[in-house]
Amino acid sequence: MKVLITGGAGFIGSNFVHTMLEKHASDQFVIVDKLTYAGNLRNLDGAVQNSRVQFVRMDIGDPAVVELARGCDAVVHFAAESHVDRSIEDASPFLRTNVEGTWRLVEACRSARVGRFIHVSTDEVYGSVAPDERSTELSPLAPTSPYAASKAASDIFVQSAVRTYGLPAIITRCTNNYGPFQFPEKFIPLMISQALAGQPLPIYGDGRNVRDWIHVSDHCMALDLILRKGKDGEIYNVGGGCELENIVIAKKILTTLGKSEDLLHFVSDRPAHDRRYALDCTKLKNDLDWTPASEFDAGLAGTVRWYQENKAWLDETRSGEYRKYFERHYTRREETLAMSGRIAVK
Ligand code: NAD
Ligand code: TYD
Repeated sequence: MKVLITGGAGFIGSNFVHTMLEKHASDQFVIVDKLTYAGNLRNLDGAVQNSRVQFVRMDIGDPAVVELARGCDAVVHFAAESHVDRSIEDASPFLRTNVEGTWRLVEACRSARVGRFIHVSTDEVYGSVAPDERSTELSPLAPTSPYAASKAASDIFVQSAVRTYGLPAIITRCTNNYGPFQFPEKFIPLMISQALAGQPLPIYGDGRNVRDWIHVSDHCMALDLILRKGKDGEIYNVGGGCELENIVIAKKILTTLGKSEDLLHFVSDRPAHDRRYALDCTKLKNDLDWTPASEFDAGLAGTVRWYQENKAWLDETRSGEYRKYFERHYTRREETLAMSGRIAVK
């Protein structure tokens, strides 16, 4: 099988590439990635050197992407702007990449007659769910953030292509991932990197928002299964079955690193911060016999170890543009939130 992987230099995409290379010895991979601030070729160390891998730096919105799709049996589409806080600050790149870019890929797949298109989406499209509920694949889409709205829009566009053109596409909606290579703007690697540096861990609001956490390796295994055995036109929820409050995770990280809870620092909440995400993954379990293998505490300990052992990666990632982002979102948080129109400037 020859697979085109978009966003392969990002967090989940790079984990997927490494998993696929190991698991499928005769498959070939074309990786397309724009290398935005979130993309890092170091994440593909050992993979880009492999003769079965071709890496192309390109925007998925570039019409030339169709040339890359030609000859491929499948596309697994990860490329996206992926951070909620950045989408609140400026949604334009989210519209461009997540919506228009996805449509460009749909057109490329149609033109190149690609036999399978996996659109990697998120549980955030369902919006916040009540304490006793779980979203199924049939739940209404109710995105809150501009990021979630852009993913929901892309899902609907993909579904429209399934119905209108018979595009052989599948949509996957996964919960919050954690593991190696995650950019430290996201919660778990941010908490780890702040704790490692002995700096405050910024907790939004009361810290009691709930996410369902899945180790990235489990997400990759689910995607591989869906790629090979999923049914065209279907949507599959993918979840870790591990709901935790943010504050609980932050404390676990501090304990793992032997740091004081004095480092916990409650900050102004994210605007329209979804209280809880929770998925019903019965369909994936029943139809494809999938179940996550990782246990959270062990997965978190392994992730903490990875960041400790990859200090050069972390230092490099936390320099440059990241410093400016951190300054805007944390050091000058009130001012930045005020510019988003949510709170009055003092
Ligand atoms: P990420 O931000 O770590 O990586 C995104 C990658 O896409 C980067 O390598 C970036 O350079 C690339 N990219 C961005 N815009 C591009 C463009 N226009 N053209 C080509 N490449 C471009 O994201 P991630 O966390 O790995 O998420 C991957 C996918 O999984 C996204 O679609 C996201 O919505 C989805 N998802 C993520 C999570 C999560 O917890 N991280 C959960 C569910 C779904
Ligand atoms: P995040 O990693 O941004 O993922 P999501 O897309 O689910 O919002 O955030 C996960 C949770 O952690 C979410 O409830 C927001 C919270 N959070 C903080 O408390 N502090 C932070 O600095 C960040 C980035 C997130």
